[in-house]
Amino acid sequence: MNEPVLEAKALERKFGAVVAASNINVSVMPGARLSLIGANGAGKTTFVNIVTGYVKPSSGEIRLAGRDITGLSPRRITQLGVCRSFQIPQLCETMTPIENILVAIGATETRSSYFLPARSDERLDRAYATLARFGLEVYAERPVDELPGGVRKLVDIAMALVRHPRVLLLDEPTSGVSTEEKFPLMDCIMAALETEDVAVIFVEHDMDIVTRYADRVLAFYAGQIIADDRPDEVLSDVEVQKYVTGTAR
Ligand SMILES: Nc1ncnc2c1ncn2[C@@H]1O[C@H](COP(=O)(O)OP(=O)(O)OP(=O)(O)O)[C@@H](O)[C@H]1O
Ligand SMILES: [Mg+2]
Repeated sequence: MNEPVLEAKALERKFGAVVAASNINVSVMPGARLSLIGANGAGKTTFVNIVTGYVKPSSGEIRLAGRDITGLSPRRITQLGVCRSFQIPQLCETMTPIENILVAIGATETRSSYFLPARSDERLDRAYATLARFGLEVYAERPVDELPGGVRKLVDIAMALVRHPRVLLLDEPTSGVSTEEKFPLMDCIMAALETEDVAVIFVEHDMDIVTRYADRVLAFYAGQIIADDRPDEVLSDVEVQKYVTGTAR
């Protein structure tokens, strides 16, 4: 039987008077391609942060393949197979993509703090193979702060993929890149993930991207999920058109 790889149950979280998560219930099957949509401040990143341990819910539960992971540290949750990229890539800007990936590899080998491990043949092979999946070999040895935004996004995702996660959360993988670059960027990401048995949850503001790459969409509004269905169903929902896409007549 196919069991959900990830379950969120009755998640609640406020920041002062702001309701960032209210009665959030989500069940994700292995291999899903799920998109999170919603206006600015709707609670998309908060959901990603709760699932990955960066924000603690005030109540509710997160389960990974049936195991309760609520309240575990981000590092522990990553080790268990829930990995993420960030709305703004969290890379060491003075290092190269290869070095950043080596750091991610080092983090899979030890429980101590992040460090740049020695360039053993085995680690380098693994780091280059990971970069190659995203077609980034040409950028491998250039400092990150010289690289275009789209490349940084991909390096951040490549770092998450080193662990072969069961769940990968991508917070706005196409933000900060030009409209023409968005489809090639998503093509590259999805192709790199194709051979992985991973559920992908990505936050996206561009509905053309959502329609093309997601098989299911969650629409957030004021910390709540107001629609959860196939992309065509969600995008034709009157509340979604009113509160998310602004296409209501
Ligand atoms: N650490 C925090 N401290 C205080 N308020 C926060 C914090 N994180 C989020 N919020 C608030 O919670 C609400 C939801 O924020 P969240 O970042 O989840 O929105 P979002 O849907 O990701 O928006 P965007 O599309 O702009 O990234 C917002 O009102 C935000 O200001
Ligand atoms: Mg956000």
